[in-house]
Amino acid sequence: MSANTPDQKLAAYQARVETVLMQRLPPDDTVPRRLHAAMRYSALGGGKRIRPALVYATGEFLGIPLATLDTAAAAIEMIHVYSLVHDDLPAMDDDALRRGRPTCHVAFDEATAILAGDALQVLAFEILTTTPASAESRVRMLQLLAVASGTSGMAGGQAIDLEATGRLLSVTEIEDMHLRKTGALIEASVALPIAISSPDRVTAERLAHYAHALGLAFQIVDDLLDVEGDPSLLGKTVGADAARNKPTYPAVAGLEAARQRASSLTDEACAAMAPCNESAAMLQWLARFITTRSN
Ligand code: IPE
Ligand code: IPE
Ligand code: MG
Ligand code: MG
Ligand code: MG
Repeated sequence: MSANTPDQKLAAYQARVETVLMQRLPPDDTVPRRLHAAMRYSALGGGKRIRPALVYATGEFLGIPLATLDTAAAAIEMIHVYSLVHDDLPAMDDDALRRGRPTCHVAFDEATAILAGDALQVLAFEILTTTPASAESRVRMLQLLAVASGTSGMAGGQAIDLEATGRLLSVTEIEDMHLRKTGALIEASVALPIAISSPDRVTAERLAHYAHALGLAFQIVDDLLDVEGDPSLLGKTVGADAARNKPTYPAVAGLEAARQRASSLTDEACAAMAPCNESAAMLQWLARFITTRSN
């Protein structure tokens, strides 16, 4: 990769995963066309691709060739997109706008959106089995992604979110929910490359610490953007959480405390990688990018 500045690197990662997704998603001129079109509509041409960027940046930090990381990057993005498609359904957050476009169930229909999410989820695991790594690494990656997507991760966090709607959580409870519904996939983005290259214990622990702090920060910033984001940049409806009485960090702790928590978690993530100097610069830059983003 010829890119050298961090934002050029991010753009290159984004373009790279877009190509992998384009190749791995079923073509929309094949049967069942409507389902395939809904999967491609939801997964292609939008989104910041933060999770794939974390997969590539962690992998490069560990000296793994980018081509070896493609399936992990695309698989995590597919799980993420599936979680968004289902999150937007009327039975969940009932949102009409995603990535600046009508949500999947609005552009298609509810049943197709449910199936698109289901199919994206299993396609993620299917492509992960084709990772050019040892069988042991592949099994470990499948296990990590399954756990991050399941009841102790994303799906569990989403269940807590729904159950807590209209109720005031404690800060401890909201952090647990955020770590599951969003943090788990961010942590998996860093854990999958670790499963490929098996770095020394100290390096693995630094990366895990980085991802844990960043995962929580990511959802706090998402909550903040729902309150104070610019609707023309966000690509989703501003104020939707308050309108639906959703459990968010600012609702529990206040805006200023939420900002401070996001900022100190970003510092914590960067500090975890500080002993690694220049080799971790991209990971640190991504942490800052994630917390200062406007969408
Ligand atoms: C939004 O994630 C939902 C959360 C888990 C916070 P992103 O902010 O990464 O959404 P895209 O992929 O860029 O659309
Ligand atoms: C979503 O949290 C977390 C997911 C697992 C999808 P939100 O409901 O806040 O995400 P947005 O704001 O709709 O993207
Ligand atoms: Mg939600
Ligand atoms: Mg939502
Ligand atoms: Mg949100």
